[in-house]
Amino acid sequence: MTISVENLFFSYDKRAVILENLNFSVKKGQFIGIFGPNGGGKTTLLQLLLGLRQPTTGNISILGKGPSQASSRIGYVPQVRRYDRQFPISVIEVVLQGCLATHKGWGNFSKDAKDKALASLKKVGLDGHADKAFGTLSGGQIQRTLIARALASNPEILLLDEATVGIDPDALKEIFRFLVGLRGQITILLVTHELQAIAKDMNHLLCINKELTTYSPEEVCEHFAMGLYHPTLMKREKKRD
Ligand SMILES: Nc1ncnc2c1ncn2[C@@H]1O[C@H](COP(=O)(O)OP(=O)(O)OP(=O)(O)O)[C@@H](O)[C@H]1O
Ligand SMILES: [Mg+2]
Repeated sequence: MTISVENLFFSYDKRAVILENLNFSVKKGQFIGIFGPNGGGKTTLLQLLLGLRQPTTGNISILGKGPSQASSRIGYVPQVRRYDRQFPISVIEVVLQGCLATHKGWGNFSKDAKDKALASLKKVGLDGHADKAFGTLSGGQIQRTLIARALASNPEILLLDEATVGIDPDALKEIFRFLVGLRGQITILLVTHELQAIAKDMNHLLCINKELTTYSPEEVCEHFAMGLYHPTLMKREKKRD
Protein backbone atom coordinates (compact mmCIF):
# COMPACT_ATOMS: atom_id res chain seq x y z
CA MET A 1 0.00 0.00 0.00
CA THR A 2 1.41 3.41 -0.95
CA ILE A 3 -0.46 5.33 1.74
CA SER A 4 -2.09 3.82 4.77
CA VAL A 5 -3.85 5.82 7.47
CA GLU A 6 -5.21 4.10 10.56
CA ASN A 7 -7.27 5.53 13.41
CA LEU A 8 -5.85 8.98 12.80
CA PHE A 9 -6.85 11.74 15.22
CA PHE A 10 -5.45 15.25 15.10
CA SER A 11 -5.93 18.41 17.18
CA TYR A 12 -3.99 21.69 17.07
CA ASP A 13 -4.88 22.14 20.71
CA LYS A 14 -6.85 20.09 23.20
CA ARG A 15 -10.07 22.04 22.80
CA ALA A 16 -11.00 21.10 19.25
CA VAL A 17 -10.63 17.83 17.38
CA ILE A 18 -9.78 18.64 13.75
CA LEU A 19 -9.56 15.11 12.34
CA GLU A 20 -11.44 12.26 13.97
CA ASN A 21 -10.65 8.62 13.42
CA LEU A 22 -9.62 8.65 9.76
CA ASN A 23 -9.01 5.30 8.09
CA PHE A 24 -8.12 4.94 4.43
CA SER A 25 -5.53 3.57 2.11
CA VAL A 26 -4.28 4.46 -1.35
CA LYS A 27 -2.69 2.07 -3.81
CA LYS A 28 0.21 2.82 -6.10
CA GLY A 29 -0.75 4.93 -9.12
CA GLN A 30 -4.25 5.77 -7.89
CA PHE A 31 -5.78 9.19 -8.45
CA ILE A 32 -7.70 10.26 -5.35
CA GLY A 33 -9.90 13.33 -4.92
CA ILE A 34 -10.25 15.13 -1.61
CA PHE A 35 -13.08 17.57 -0.98
CA GLY A 36 -15.10 18.99 1.88
CA PRO A 37 -16.14 22.28 3.46
CA ASN A 38 -13.75 25.09 4.32
CA GLY A 39 -12.07 24.29 7.61
CA GLY A 40 -12.94 20.58 7.20
CA GLY A 41 -9.29 19.57 7.65
CA LYS A 42 -8.05 18.87 4.09
CA THR A 43 -4.85 20.92 4.30
CA THR A 44 -4.16 19.58 7.78
CA LEU A 45 -4.43 16.02 6.44
CA LEU A 46 -1.93 16.73 3.64
CA GLN A 47 0.47 18.27 6.17
CA LEU A 48 0.21 15.12 8.29
CA LEU A 49 0.96 12.97 5.23
CA LEU A 50 4.04 15.12 4.58
CA GLY A 51 5.26 14.76 8.16
CA LEU A 52 4.93 18.52 8.73
CA ARG A 53 2.59 17.76 11.63
CA GLN A 54 2.38 14.77 13.94
CA PRO A 55 -0.82 12.77 14.59
CA THR A 56 -2.30 13.19 18.05
CA THR A 57 -2.94 9.45 17.91
CA GLY A 58 -3.04 6.88 15.13
CA ASN A 59 -0.76 5.77 12.38
CA ILE A 60 0.36 6.97 8.96
CA SER A 61 2.51 4.86 6.70
CA ILE A 62 3.85 6.23 3.39
CA LEU A 63 5.71 3.87 1.07
CA GLY A 64 6.21 1.59 4.07
CA LYS A 65 7.80 4.32 6.20
CA GLY A 66 6.85 7.15 8.51
CA PRO A 67 5.87 10.40 6.76
CA SER A 68 9.11 12.26 7.59
CA GLN A 69 11.27 9.45 6.18
CA ALA A 70 9.20 9.35 2.99
CA SER A 71 8.81 13.10 2.40
CA SER A 72 11.64 13.36 -0.16
CA ARG A 73 9.59 11.01 -2.36
CA ILE A 74 6.52 13.24 -2.20
CA GLY A 75 5.85 16.27 -4.40
CA TYR A 76 3.67 18.95 -2.78
CA VAL A 77 1.74 21.78 -4.38
CA PRO A 78 0.63 23.91 -1.43
CA GLN A 79 -2.58 25.91 -1.25
CA VAL A 80 -1.68 29.43 -2.34
CA ARG A 81 -4.17 32.11 -1.49
CA ARG A 82 -2.00 35.08 -2.43
CA TYR A 83 1.43 35.54 -3.83
CA ASP A 84 3.62 38.55 -4.33
CA ARG A 85 3.63 39.36 -8.02
CA GLN A 86 6.50 41.79 -7.47
CA PHE A 87 8.84 39.20 -6.00
CA PRO A 88 11.74 39.01 -8.45
CA ILE A 89 12.01 35.35 -9.31
CA SER A 90 11.95 33.66 -12.68
CA VAL A 91 9.84 30.65 -13.62
CA ILE A 92 12.86 28.33 -13.79
CA GLU A 93 14.03 29.52 -10.35
CA VAL A 94 10.66 28.57 -8.86
CA VAL A 95 10.94 25.11 -10.41
CA LEU A 96 14.53 24.75 -9.17
CA GLN A 97 13.24 25.12 -5.60
CA GLY A 98 11.90 21.61 -6.16
CA CYS A 99 15.49 20.38 -6.41
CA LEU A 100 16.52 21.92 -3.08
CA ALA A 101 16.03 18.69 -1.14
CA THR A 102 18.98 17.19 -3.01
CA HIS A 103 20.94 20.41 -3.41
CA LYS A 104 22.96 22.25 -0.81
CA GLY A 105 22.21 25.94 -0.70
CA TRP A 106 20.68 28.30 -3.23
CA GLY A 107 22.43 29.36 -6.44
CA ASN A 108 24.94 27.58 -8.62
CA PHE A 109 22.55 24.82 -9.49
CA SER A 110 24.16 21.99 -11.38
CA LYS A 111 23.42 21.48 -15.03
CA ASP A 112 21.67 18.31 -13.98
CA ALA A 113 19.26 20.23 -11.72
CA LYS A 114 18.60 22.80 -14.44
CA ASP A 115 17.95 20.05 -16.99
CA LYS A 116 15.52 18.41 -14.58
CA ALA A 117 13.74 21.73 -13.99
CA LEU A 118 13.45 22.38 -17.73
CA ALA A 119 12.18 18.85 -18.33
CA SER A 120 9.60 19.43 -15.61
CA LEU A 121 8.46 22.69 -17.22
CA LYS A 122 8.15 20.90 -20.52
CA LYS A 123 5.92 18.26 -18.93
CA VAL A 124 3.43 20.94 -17.88
CA GLY A 125 3.63 22.68 -21.25
CA LEU A 126 5.60 25.70 -20.09
CA ASP A 127 8.85 25.25 -21.91
CA GLY A 128 9.59 28.58 -23.46
CA HIS A 129 8.51 30.39 -20.29
CA ALA A 130 11.56 29.45 -18.20
CA ASP A 131 13.12 32.91 -18.05
CA LYS A 132 9.93 34.90 -17.60
CA ALA A 133 9.22 36.63 -14.31
CA PHE A 134 6.97 34.37 -12.22
CA GLY A 135 4.74 37.33 -11.34
CA THR A 136 3.79 37.94 -14.97
CA LEU A 137 2.19 34.51 -15.46
CA SER A 138 -1.54 33.81 -15.58
CA GLY A 139 -3.25 31.92 -12.75
CA GLY A 140 -3.19 28.68 -14.75
CA GLN A 141 0.48 29.13 -15.65
CA ILE A 142 1.36 29.86 -12.03
CA GLN A 143 -0.33 26.65 -10.98
CA ARG A 144 1.43 24.66 -13.69
CA THR A 145 4.77 26.14 -12.59
CA LEU A 146 4.06 24.99 -9.02
CA ILE A 147 3.19 21.52 -10.33
CA ALA A 148 6.46 21.51 -12.31
CA ARG A 149 8.30 22.41 -9.09
CA ALA A 150 6.64 19.48 -7.30
CA LEU A 151 7.56 17.13 -10.16
CA ALA A 152 11.20 18.25 -10.41
CA SER A 153 12.38 15.72 -7.84
CA ASN A 154 10.61 12.83 -9.64
CA PRO A 155 8.24 12.09 -6.77
CA GLU A 156 6.33 8.82 -6.40
CA ILE A 157 3.43 10.64 -4.73
CA LEU A 158 1.98 14.03 -5.65
CA LEU A 159 -0.16 15.99 -3.19
CA LEU A 160 -2.01 18.99 -4.61
CA ASP A 161 -3.93 21.34 -2.35
CA GLU A 162 -6.69 23.34 -4.00
CA ALA A 163 -4.67 23.72 -7.18
CA THR A 164 -7.63 25.31 -8.87
CA VAL A 165 -8.33 28.65 -7.25
CA GLY A 166 -8.25 31.67 -9.57
CA ILE A 167 -7.87 29.65 -12.73
CA ASP A 168 -10.15 29.98 -15.74
CA PRO A 169 -12.16 26.87 -16.71
CA ASP A 170 -10.13 26.09 -19.85
CA ALA A 171 -6.79 26.31 -18.02
CA LEU A 172 -8.27 24.14 -15.29
CA LYS A 173 -9.32 21.49 -17.80
CA GLU A 174 -5.77 21.48 -19.18
CA ILE A 175 -4.32 20.93 -15.71
CA PHE A 176 -6.82 18.18 -14.94
CA ARG A 177 -6.06 16.47 -18.25
CA PHE A 178 -2.38 16.59 -17.41
CA LEU A 179 -2.95 15.07 -13.95
CA VAL A 180 -5.22 12.35 -15.34
CA GLY A 181 -2.38 11.54 -17.75
CA LEU A 182 -0.11 10.86 -14.77
CA ARG A 183 -2.55 8.28 -13.41
CA GLY A 184 -0.81 4.93 -13.06
CA GLN A 185 2.65 6.53 -12.95
CA ILE A 186 2.40 8.73 -9.88
CA THR A 187 0.03 8.34 -6.95
CA ILE A 188 -1.98 11.56 -6.80
CA LEU A 189 -4.10 13.11 -4.05
CA LEU A 190 -5.85 16.24 -5.30
CA VAL A 191 -7.81 18.60 -3.07
CA THR A 192 -10.36 20.40 -5.20
CA HIS A 193 -13.80 21.95 -5.14
CA GLU A 194 -14.13 21.55 -8.92
CA LEU A 195 -15.23 17.94 -8.78
CA GLN A 196 -17.64 18.02 -11.65
CA ALA A 197 -14.87 18.21 -14.24
CA ILE A 198 -12.81 15.38 -12.85
CA ALA A 199 -14.58 13.02 -10.42
CA LYS A 200 -15.16 10.33 -13.06
CA ASP A 201 -11.40 10.03 -13.68
CA MET A 202 -10.64 9.35 -10.01
CA ASN A 203 -10.34 5.99 -8.26
CA HIS A 204 -12.23 7.26 -5.24
CA LEU A 205 -12.96 10.43 -3.35
CA LEU A 206 -12.48 11.36 0.28
CA CYS A 207 -14.81 13.90 1.84
CA ILE A 208 -13.06 15.40 4.87
CA ASN A 209 -15.33 17.14 7.33
CA LYS A 210 -13.53 16.31 10.58
CA GLU A 211 -14.58 12.75 9.85
CA LEU A 212 -14.02 10.95 6.59
CA THR A 213 -16.65 9.71 4.15
CA THR A 214 -15.47 7.81 1.09
CA TYR A 215 -17.28 8.05 -2.22
CA SER A 216 -16.91 6.24 -5.50
CA PRO A 217 -16.82 8.44 -8.64
CA GLU A 218 -20.22 6.99 -9.64
CA GLU A 219 -21.78 8.15 -6.39
CA VAL A 220 -20.41 11.65 -6.84
CA CYS A 221 -21.52 11.80 -10.48
CA GLU A 222 -24.97 10.51 -9.49
CA HIS A 223 -25.31 13.55 -7.24
CA PHE A 224 -24.45 15.84 -10.16
CA ALA A 225 -27.00 14.10 -12.36
CA MET A 226 -29.71 14.60 -9.75
CA GLY A 227 -28.81 18.26 -9.57
CA LEU A 228 -27.79 17.83 -5.97
CA TYR A 229 -24.26 18.98 -6.40
CA HIS A 230 -22.84 21.20 -3.73
CA PRO A 231 -19.27 21.29 -2.54
CA THR A 232 -19.62 18.97 0.38
CA LEU A 233 -22.16 16.48 -0.99
CA MET A 234 -23.52 16.51 2.53
CA LYS A 235 -23.08 13.34 4.43
CA ARG A 236 -25.72 10.85 3.52
CA GLU A 237 -27.88 8.70 5.78
CA LYS A 238 -25.62 5.72 5.41
CA LYS A 239 -22.10 6.35 6.58
CA ARG A 240 -19.32 4.38 4.93
CA ASP A 241 -15.71 3.88 5.81
N1 LIG B 1 -2.00 26.37 12.49
C1 LIG B 1 -3.22 26.20 12.98
N2 LIG B 1 -3.46 26.35 14.31
C2 LIG B 1 -4.70 26.17 14.83
N3 LIG B 1 -5.77 25.81 14.11
C3 LIG B 1 -5.60 25.64 12.79
C4 LIG B 1 -4.33 25.81 12.16
N4 LIG B 1 -4.46 25.56 10.83
C5 LIG B 1 -5.76 25.24 10.65
N5 LIG B 1 -6.44 25.28 11.80
C6 LIG B 1 -7.87 24.96 11.98
O1 LIG B 1 -8.04 23.59 11.63
C7 LIG B 1 -9.26 23.39 10.91
C8 LIG B 1 -8.95 22.74 9.59
O2 LIG B 1 -8.23 23.62 8.77
P1 LIG B 1 -7.67 23.22 7.35
O3 LIG B 1 -6.87 24.36 6.85
O4 LIG B 1 -7.02 21.89 7.43
O5 LIG B 1 -9.04 23.08 6.53
P2 LIG B 1 -9.28 22.94 4.96
O6 LIG B 1 -10.24 21.83 4.79
O7 LIG B 1 -7.99 22.86 4.26
O8 LIG B 1 -10.02 24.33 4.62
P3 LIG B 1 -10.04 25.18 3.25
O9 LIG B 1 -11.04 24.53 2.34
O10 LIG B 1 -10.49 26.53 3.69
O11 LIG B 1 -8.66 25.19 2.69
C9 LIG B 1 -9.89 24.79 10.79
O12 LIG B 1 -10.83 24.89 11.83
C10 LIG B 1 -8.75 25.73 11.03
O13 LIG B 1 -9.19 26.92 11.61
MG1 LIG C 1 -7.08 23.99 2.84
